[in-house]
Amino acid sequence: MPRPRILTLALMLSAAPPIASAQPDAEAQFERGQKLFTTYCTRCHGNNADGEGRMVKRLYRKLKTQLPSNFTLGIYSDRPAEYLHKIITNGGENYSMSKYMPPFGEELSVKNIDDLVHFIKKAPEKYARTVDP
Ligand code: HEC
Repeated sequence: MPRPRILTLALMLSAAPPIASAQPDAEAQFERGQKLFTTYCTRCHGNNADGEGRMVKRLYRKLKTQLPSNFTLGIYSDRPAEYLHKIITNGGENYSMSKYMPPFGEELSVKNIDDLVHFIKKAPEKYARTVDP
């Protein structure tokens, strides 16, 4: 009897858990991180997270110091979250990086910094895809 089987299949499909249930959360966190990034970071790290912020031309190229990181590079999705979190909290100088990477631990909450870390780890996928073949 095919009918009950079809019914069972229909029930299974309708009862199936939403496959992308984790997505809306990740997307919301990315968007929170993106807003914070626009407020605090793009002047150096760029509107497209590519390290080409407006301060770069004016300041860094003249000073010939280490340029702000380009977060569209694939390596950033593999950077440990704790590592990114520490640098954003304490600034570059504490980790033998550029002193022009400022510390944000007093300005931003731990949750804000978590959102920024999430944003940076997603940036290669979100921004580089449009450029890659
Ligand atoms: C005044 C300019 C400036 C601002 C503003 C700034 N950065 Fe940076 N940032 C830098 C520079 C320069 C470096 C490169 C340090 C190095 O490689 O020595 C850097 C490096 C980093 C790194 C290290 C990544 C790596 O290459 O391993 C992280 C993470 C980072 N920035 C996150 C942020 C976030 C998040 C914000 C905003 C909350 C921000 N930065 C704002 C200048 C800035």
